[in-house]
Parts: sequence; C-alpha cells; structure tokens
Amino acid sequence: MSDLSQKPAADLTEDEARLELERLAAAIAAADIAYHQNDAPEITDAAYDSLRIRNAELEEAFPELVRPDSPTGRVGAAPADGFAKVRHAVPMLSLAKAYTDEDVVDFLERGRRFFKQDEGLEIAFTAEPKIDGLSASLLYVDGKFVRGATRGDGTVGEDITANLRTIKDIPERLPPGGGWPKSIEIRGEVYMTYAEFKALKERSAAAGGQDYVNPRNTAAGSLRQKDPSVTASRNLKFFAYAWGATSEDPAPTQYEAVQKFAEWGFAVSPLMSRAKSVEELIAQYHHIEELRSSLGYDIDGVVYKVDQLELQRRWGFVTGEPRWAVAHKFPAEQAMTVVKKIDIQVGRTGTLAPVARLEPVTVGGVVVENVTLHNEDYIKGIDSNGLPIRGDEPIDIRIGDTVVIQRAGDVIPQIVRVVLEKRPADAAPYQFPDTCPVCGSPAVREINEKTGKEDSRRRCTGELICPAQAVEGLRHFVSRGALDIEGLGAENIDTFFNAGLIRTAADIFTLRDRRPEVQRALAERREEQAKAREAASGKTRKNVRGVEDRNYEGLDKLFAAIDARRNPELDRFIFALGIRHIGETTGAVLARTFGSIQKLEEAGKEMVAAEDPMTVFPSTDGIGGTVVEALVTFFGNQRNVDALDALLKQVTPQDYVVTISADSQIAGKTVVFTGTLEKMSRSEAKAMAERLGAKVAGSVSAKTDILVAGPGAGSKLKTAQEHGVEVISEDEWFARVGR
Ligand code: IVH
Repeated sequence: MSDLSQKPAADLTEDEARLELERLAAAIAAADIAYHQNDAPEITDAAYDSLRIRNAELEEAFPELVRPDSPTGRVGAAPADGFAKVRHAVPMLSLAKAYTDEDVVDFLERGRRFFKQDEGLEIAFTAEPKIDGLSASLLYVDGKFVRGATRGDGTVGEDITANLRTIKDIPERLPPGGGWPKSIEIRGEVYMTYAEFKALKERSAAAGGQDYVNPRNTAAGSLRQKDPSVTASRNLKFFAYAWGATSEDPAPTQYEAVQKFAEWGFAVSPLMSRAKSVEELIAQYHHIEELRSSLGYDIDGVVYKVDQLELQRRWGFVTGEPRWAVAHKFPAEQAMTVVKKIDIQVGRTGTLAPVARLEPVTVGGVVVENVTLHNEDYIKGIDSNGLPIRGDEPIDIRIGDTVVIQRAGDVIPQIVRVVLEKRPADAAPYQFPDTCPVCGSPAVREINEKTGKEDSRRRCTGELICPAQAVEGLRHFVSRGALDIEGLGAENIDTFFNAGLIRTAADIFTLRDRRPEVQRALAERREEQAKAREAASGKTRKNVRGVEDRNYEGLDKLFAAIDARRNPELDRFIFALGIRHIGETTGAVLARTFGSIQKLEEAGKEMVAAEDPMTVFPSTDGIGGTVVEALVTFFGNQRNVDALDALLKQVTPQDYVVTISADSQIAGKTVVFTGTLEKMSRSEAKAMAERLGAKVAGSVSAKTDILVAGPGAGSKLKTAQEHGVEVISEDEWFARVGR
C-alpha cells in the first residue's frame, strides 16, 4: 500500500487518479481472491477497508474515471428493470435471538466466560428497540452522502441511493467541523409509521388501487421504486444505529457513536440506554415493551449490544452474527377487541364463509378489522371431530363478545380466546343461516361420500340463480385457464353484472350489440372512481373528455377479444363452465373422452336419467365418482342446461380430433416439454401433442422420444442429452406438427 499516493483526491491530476484507480482495482481484486477463494487473507481488514475507501474517494472526485471493473461495490451494471448491485465491504449482519430472560442471562454468561481472564473487567451494554423495517447502509465520503444500499443477502445489496435521498432523516451532508470520519458507512433501519401507512392505504382504497399488508412490506416496496418521487410520497423514516466500513471509529463506545450520529443530523432512537447487569437490561426491555403500542411504528424486540468497541472486536463474530449482540424478541402480539357483527360471504361454488367484523385494532403493526371464522362449527368452538378448539370446553363466539386476536409475524390474524367475563348479558349464540344470504336458496351441509361425514361448510344450492355464485362463475369463465378473454377481467365482469348487462356467460357474447349500454356502464364506473380519487387527493380533474375518449378505443378492443374466443378449445371450454370438481386436467380428460360438447351434454343428460350414472361413462384415467356426481348435479339442473344451450348459440367449441395419420411424425411418440414455451401454454402444448397421438410425460427417461426445450431448460435437457434423446426447439415442434 505504501506505493499508493495519499494526496487528497482533489489534488490529483487525471492521469495520477487513473493510475491509482488501476492499482487500487488490482490490489482489491487480489485481496478479494486471497480472502474469498483461498481463505488466506494477505492484508488486515483495516488495510482492506482503507483501499476501498480510497477507491471510493477517487471515484467520487473523478466520476468519469470509474472503471468498468470498479470494486466500489458495483458488482454488475444496473439491469434494465432493476438496481445496480453493491457489495458491502463489511457484511451487514443479522442478530442472534433471545426469547426468554434465561436466554439473556446466557448471553451475559457467555461474555463473562469469554473475557474471564480479564479480572475486574466491566462489560457495559446498550439496549435499544429493534425496529421492524429494512436495514440500509449509507456511504458518506468527505461528509457527503454518496451511495446507499439495501442489505440484500448481507454481502451484496442493491443501490437505492436516489430513493434514500428522499428520506428526511438521512442528511445529504454531515455538518462542517462535526469530527466525522473521512469515510463512513452509516447503517440503520428504514421504516414507515402507522399514520403514514394508514394514510397510504386510504388513498389507495379510494382510488381502487392495491392493498397494503403491513408497514414493513410497504416500506420495502417503497424503497424499491424506480421513480424516487414515489418513494418521496411515502414519507419513510430512518433510525441510525450502527456502521460498516469506516476510516476511523466514530467513538470508543456504541452509545457515544450513536450520540455522534445524532449530532451529525441523523435520527436516532430516543429509547437507547446503557446498562451493566441482566436486571437492568430486562428492566429496559419491559420499559420499551410498555411503550411499544404508543410509539407509532413497529418494533419487535430490544437489541442489546456490548458498549465498548474494543470488547466488541475481541469477542468477534460467528457465521453472520456478532457474538456481542442479541435481539430479545417480544412475544407474538395479541390485542383485545369486540366482534361488531358476523357477515356471511358466498363464493363461486356457493360456500358460505363467515367473517367477524371487529372494532379496528392494531396487532403487530397491522390494523385488523376482519377475521375469518371459517365455518359454523368454528363459531361454536368445535373442530371437525367435535373437539373444543378454544380451551377445554367448547366456547362459542357471539356478536358483542370481547375477543383476543393474535398475529405472529405475517400470519393471518386469528381469534385465540373469547373473554367470557366481558360477554354482554344479552349476547345470544350466533344462528348460522340455513339459507343463502344473497339469493335465499337453502344452504346445506353436504355429506362427504368418502368419509360419510358432514362437510364443515354450508353451501348455497341456488347455483346460477345466486348472484354471488353467478358473478364468481362469470369471473371464472373469462379467467386465464378458461376462456382467457383479454381485457375482460374481474372488474369489468362486476361492472357489467351490476349494470344488469350480463347474467350468464352467453350474455358476454352479445355485449357488442349493446354498445351504448356497455359504454354507459363503463363511463359510470370511471366517473365513480375518479370521484373517489378526487376525494382522496383533494384535487379536481382537468380532463374529463380524455377519460371518455379512451372508452371507445378500449371497447373495440374488448369486443374483438370476445369475438376471438368464439371457437375455444374444447378442454378450456369445459373447464370454463365452472362445474364443481372439474379443473383444467379433468376438463382435458373429458374433452378427449367425449370429443365434442354435444357428446358431453348428451352423456350428462343420460347420467341424470340413469339408475347408475357410472355405467354411462366410458372408463378413463383420472375420472371417478366425484366427477360423475358433479356432472349429474350440473346437468340435472335445468337452469344450467339452458345457460349452456344459450351459450352454444354464441360459441362453437372446437371438436377434439385425434389425428393419428400414418405419416404423423408425432403419433405414438413420448414427448416432454421443458423450459419456457413462448408460443403456447404448457396445457395447450400437452393437448396438442395428445391430439396428435403422442404421450406427454413429465420427466425425461431413456423411453422419451422427443424433448421440446424452450429457453431456460435445465436438468431435463441435460438428462435428455445423456440418454441421446432428440431435442428440438418450439419452432421445430411447430414445423413438425404442421402449424
Ligand atoms: S444492529 C451488527 N440494531 O435487525 C448488528 N439491528 O436481526 C447489526 N434491526 O438486519 C444490526 N433494529 O435490520 C441493530 N437497533 C437495531 C436494530 C437492528 C432493527 C434489524 C436490522 C438487522 C436485523 C438483525
């Protein structure tokens, strides 16, 4: 290192700087190889850090000289849709965890044993909240914020400098004369307050935007925005609590270092304190725990760190964790609230799902207002075997009850206990409805054929006359694996259904004839959404015309997309009907078995009339009693038959033709598809091959004849090559099947 110039970066000529950067790159690369590949470091960590820091300084002073192989940390260039990678010169560690007081005692004991030769040594500790956010590392060179990165995997993170610059708790410059090191990486936690989270959630809901799960994930998403103005709008916060590579220690102790950070303009936790004994640490833990609910942001424990940096260094690290620190976690958070009412939601297949509406309460950083009650028995307090699920006796849940809810980590909230002492005197057991709350049809508990037991859920028997089931059925009809009508997603289905424009699938295909009504329904929806957005943002719209104009263009596209699906493949069509128990695979089996929708319908009606429906069905792999019964139920309902017939006036599903011609290059062969297929879906590929008389297998063996490999093909390609299996591309496949 001695031959490297140590003139201030700004005093170097360009040539000197270029030469020094070249030497630094070589020196750092050599040190990296010695350290990472040979496990034999040739220079001290401090010497290594100063090489990196010097390199960063020069790059800062001469940005045009940054080498393509710059070691500053850019491990790769920024991919088009991502962030540049940053290698952390000092890894970003995680913390060992303590769950009980004994774990804390053990931590201190380990310290005492480690330092035991040092009689009379007093180990001090800091205690501070463990913020539930994302850690970030901020590089300051000559007091200026030059680069900020995420933790990533601890070794390599992402360069999110522009986004971090929008956070007010992060100073752009450290104050002159602040005594800061020439170069230092300040580390800490980026987080979002509850207030900010709630405001964002409300803005988004009003605009019909996405839902946000919790402040932590939202903060993470906010930091990974391509557009920093979006990050800025999220008002993220930052607490500084540690540091990475630095040209000198900020202070002799952890506590003083953090005080320095505060002097330099960083926000630091006001709850950090020093302690010398287990008792003091645990008292501090309980103190912070008591304050937890009033902080306005999520914390999930208290971090204890050895205060003296000298002792930190001596005690050192185990894999990925400092030995000198531990995170004392809080138990899973619980909260008490009141059940205001119980609503019943009806799904596509008619299941009645009870949901408790709660007095809103914050649990583990998330406002909980609803919690699923699963089914009738769950509300009564028994499981599917009739055993109590909350305590020793079955305790039911009633409207007006005070309940304890729990949410551990990202787990869905649940009711753990009913506080019987708080039950209002007039609270009555909940009467689970035996009719559908949407259409009034009987709601029944079916008997499971196999187990002979009653299903735990009630189902509405109204099928298509039930609007809840009808709308879910329509959503399914247009969805991906089904007819896959582009531009006709769940939102449009809801709009058209609510406007009375579609009741059954056939109506979708006559929308074109009712253009003015369709237009009106969409315009009304846009109007409503715009109003909601306006109300949320407080701004008025400038261009009302523009909104309507888009309608015309969009409608032509939508109608064209609908028309494009008038000849669906038979298997998709059968799946789209949404018959219970008939998924994509069974849909394909039925298509192969019956060959046309008319044949399937005939067979269905025969089954309804037959004494033993199983005798009607040609025996096929993958079809059993459940499917036959589902077909009987479907075709036994005249409303379904009418809806299907109306639909068949609009669409003509392709017959399923098996063309095993003598010269087919595919018939009788065993084919495997792997990698990304770009021109057809996996299910379409399979159906096509089978139509041509091939057998499609999931894995490659010596018996495989052809492997169709798309980009990204991995182990299957390798196996195929080992077995000498013929490998062709998707294009070659099409050439062979003559499409
Ligand atoms: S110190 C060398 N202090 O917890 C120790 N970490 O489980 C480095 N965290 O990745 C971490 N609050 O994201 C430290 N006051 C605090 C913290 C804290 C939250 C996070 C941090 C780290 C994780 C480790």
